[in-house]
Amino acid sequence: MDSPAIRDRTVLVTGGAGFIGSHLVDALHPHNEVRVLDTFTTGTRAYLPDGVTVIEGDIRDPIALQKAARGVDIIFHHAALVSVSQSVEAPRQSNETNLEASLLLLEQARQEDARVVVASSAAVYGHPEDLPVSETTPTKPSSPYGVQKLALDQYTRLYEDLYDVETVALRYFNVYGPRQQGPYSGVISTFLEQARADEPITIEGDGKQSRDFVHISDVVRANLRAATTDAVGEAYNIGTGQQTTIEELAETIRDATGSSSPIVHCEPRPGDIRHSGADTSKATRELGFEARVGLESGIRSLVGEGQPAVADEEDGPAQNHHWESGSYS
Ligand code: UD1
Repeated sequence: MDSPAIRDRTVLVTGGAGFIGSHLVDALHPHNEVRVLDTFTTGTRAYLPDGVTVIEGDIRDPIALQKAARGVDIIFHHAALVSVSQSVEAPRQSNETNLEASLLLLEQARQEDARVVVASSAAVYGHPEDLPVSETTPTKPSSPYGVQKLALDQYTRLYEDLYDVETVALRYFNVYGPRQQGPYSGVISTFLEQARADEPITIEGDGKQSRDFVHISDVVRANLRAATTDAVGEAYNIGTGQQTTIEELAETIRDATGSSSPIVHCEPRPGDIRHSGADTSKATRELGFEARVGLESGIRSLVGEGQPAVADEEDGPAQNHHWESGSYS
């Protein structure tokens, strides 16, 4: 299941200097003309290879957006305010970026006749009653962030229905990998940092809550498939189908780092989702997507930064798959 080749296209990656966007840029450059639109508020310029056209600007700014999108064939839309808690504190502010500006972007895509792949989220499901969640599971977001992603996800479908814009929404579960950093990064990067410093690993609540952790290389491959699929106007779950408790995660990270950190429990996060896990059969069927990197090998590769991630035998269908930053075959 090699990644489809995307070559000789003009592509725009919004949020291209961020965690997911910058890995996608690595997969697209230099075989395509790659543009990045980023504010560099949380993105990092050093992630961008030479030869990429950088437009420093905000997706809320129609002029910057117009400039970035002029003449493009494909837009990968990863610019967002990703903090769920910030969206709870300031819903209008995150709505401006995550929804209103995204709508501007869809309009721009319509004008340019460009395909759009948008970053949606498992947050659209809120607290699911049954697991794993499929795309037909009722959506009931539990945060403004989730509402914004759901509205965007629905708009992408509508833009295909109403205006024939080729759109795909990818509902990411818990993505992890190199370059994930900062105050709003995920639990894996937080635990790794704590373990490396031999500081306490802080489990919020009882640690029995679970997540579906998907490696960045799998997320990039899902994007490449979404960029070429005929099955447009659809939303797809992007996860591994495997659930891991936060308690297991803490132990795995402590073992992998050889850290002497104690594992401690603190207050549970208000409104925390108890369990999350993806049914990815639609993505397998329609995109030919299957996650390849198991959690243990993904973590081992993070611990030894620069080491390729290798699918564990028990962890996935594609055994012995090697991943190094920038390689997606
Ligand atoms: C994640 C996504 C979010 C998405 C949501 C969809 C990240 C960073 N966030 O949120 O964008 O909308 O999935 O469902 O990927 N935890 C600890 N200790 C810590 C940090 C976290 O125990 O130091 C726990 C949290 O309480 C939570 C779990 O780890 O139970 C995962 O937290 P986090 O990585 O922040 O992601 P989600 O809240 O699942």
